[in-house]
Amino acid sequence: MVKICPSILSADFARLGEEVKAVSRAGADYIHVDVMDGHFVPNLTLGPPIVKAVRQVTDLPLDVHLMIDNPDEYLEDYAKAGADFIGVHAEVCTHLHRSLGRIKELGKKSCVVLNPATSPAAIEYVLDMVDMILVMSVNPGFGGQKFIPSSIAKIKAIKEMLDARSLSVPIQVDGGITAETIKDPALAGATVFVSGTGVFGHKDGYQAAMEEMRNAAG
Ligand code: DX5
Ligand code: ZN
Repeated sequence: MVKICPSILSADFARLGEEVKAVSRAGADYIHVDVMDGHFVPNLTLGPPIVKAVRQVTDLPLDVHLMIDNPDEYLEDYAKAGADFIGVHAEVCTHLHRSLGRIKELGKKSCVVLNPATSPAAIEYVLDMVDMILVMSVNPGFGGQKFIPSSIAKIKAIKEMLDARSLSVPIQVDGGITAETIKDPALAGATVFVSGTGVFGHKDGYQAAMEEMRNAAG
């Protein structure tokens, strides 16, 4: 039931193709791709050409997390580059309903993302048009940060909102996820887990990292 999505932000970028193949072989469910623009978040990472390159080396779904201003302007580029899920932050989408609709029009799975300070109320009226909801458990921008515990209550609140509407949208959580932190968000209702340093930085390798997380999530 639990899905693990290694975030390539913590991979060795000089050997990105090999790294993506290695986590794919080691049992990853999705490949999580963190796109940062140096404006919405204080870090700059990668764009459509890298998504396109990653698309060539794995058959797994690419889960593209856009941490950028004006995401509407770039949705088509990421769709063409081979994204399967496109995630946009509620905080930057003035017309969130339109942005999510556009992702669907492009034939992609839509994901709405909430920063740690953003209330679940921000997505109350778009719940029926998303394929995944991502609760950030760190402030986006960097890998290797500490899990923020208030995200657990938020996951619970979103799960209740979904249940009340008989919707079964998967809840994803991103930031500070390891075998030590995964259990509480899993109990709260999250089923899809992003992990960067928890996978790529694990001393016993990628497969062991993901197995430990699955076991700990229960
Ligand atoms: C943070 C990114 C995360 C990040 C997670 O802005 O969205 O996907 O790579 O890294 P860890 O698992 O190390 O917290
Ligand atoms: Zn991410």
